[in-house]
Amino acid sequence: MAPFIRLKFVSKSFADVVAVDNLSLDIEKGELFCLLGASGCGKSTLLRLLAGFESPTKGTIEIDGHDMAGVAPADRPVNFMFQNYALFPHMSVAGNVGYGLRRAGVRGDALDERVNALLKLVRLQNLGSRKPHQLSGGQRQRVALARALARRPKLLLLDEPLAALDKKLREDTQFELVDIQEKLDTTFIVVTHDQEEAMTLAGRIGIMDAGQLVQVDEPRKLYERPKNSFVADFLGTISFVDGVVGQRDKTGIALDGDLKIRAITNLDLAVGKAVRLAIRPEKICLSRTASTAPNQIEVVVEDLAYLGFATNYRVKTPSGQMFKLQQQQRRSNETPLSWGETGYVHFDPQDVIVLED
Ligand SMILES: Nc1ncnc2c1ncn2[C@@H]1O[C@H](COP(=O)(O)OP(=O)(O)OP(=O)(O)O)[C@@H](O)[C@H]1O
Ligand SMILES: [Mg+2]
Repeated sequence: MAPFIRLKFVSKSFADVVAVDNLSLDIEKGELFCLLGASGCGKSTLLRLLAGFESPTKGTIEIDGHDMAGVAPADRPVNFMFQNYALFPHMSVAGNVGYGLRRAGVRGDALDERVNALLKLVRLQNLGSRKPHQLSGGQRQRVALARALARRPKLLLLDEPLAALDKKLREDTQFELVDIQEKLDTTFIVVTHDQEEAMTLAGRIGIMDAGQLVQVDEPRKLYERPKNSFVADFLGTISFVDGVVGQRDKTGIALDGDLKIRAITNLDLAVGKAVRLAIRPEKICLSRTASTAPNQIEVVVEDLAYLGFATNYRVKTPSGQMFKLQQQQRRSNETPLSWGETGYVHFDPQDVIVLED
């Protein structure tokens, strides 16, 4: 069966700016897909192309098996929630949610029932008669979501839907959004530039850079098996070690030089080849005393930040290599290392990501 959404070699240029560059992507029905990327990489343009507010300079867009070329926004099975969603200020919450339904000719009990069901879905059932200015930011956001869902779009496009919310409210709303999406089985495409939000929401994430998709994968794969340095660096914190392969055996490699770091990999890397190793902060252990652990390196604590649940460290080897690591605050016999102290880091060869570029 054809995927629900199929973009084939889609480009969009504005004069000399290439906002979307030869992009191909399939999205299945019922997916919650996140587009993640830096400001200006083309996320909003891609959504606007899907919604029909822009037409591609090149390439084709299919939704639900139909070519969307020349199909007006109103005739697409799509609804769009803009980043700066505006509620109608003079209308009640229920009025806002029912707006599209009324325009489609729904009246009376059918309208009330549908509006009530939507309000219940976004947990605003008691606030139907309030005006938007009598709501909190998060409540307003949920009204906008209910309004966008009212006509049961097959595809809902959300452009930075939670950008206006504070951290706590944002986290709660993220879980709610996932819940709602699971209940409705609508296909969601959510744009965000917040990587944690993308990890929380998405079944799959597409990492965008300069109008192109660099990698499309499940959150765990993106984090643990990034395709290249850009993705590794974009998603979360990471330490890179550049070096040359000094040894190669059946299961992995070891670097040449003073940091003989060993990594498990099945990449075809001959002795003498330049490689980049990458290690996530939570995979690195820091201790005051040396042990026989593999990949043990002497370091000095350069910086530390106490976060309550954990402490972030930046440590440096005698040769100047930096590692960023995070130590969980556990009950332990060892008091945490402090600034300027000498200690040892170690990490499992299995946890070293080997990158070719
Ligand atoms: N109507 C337009 N005319 C000219 N250039 C445009 C237009 N719309 C977007 N662009 C340019 O296209 C590029 C992609 O813009 P887009 O809005 O898609 O980025 P974005 O990824 O959504 O960024 P942000 O995270 O800041 O919202 C940018 O360089 C932008 O300046
Ligand atoms: Mg945008």
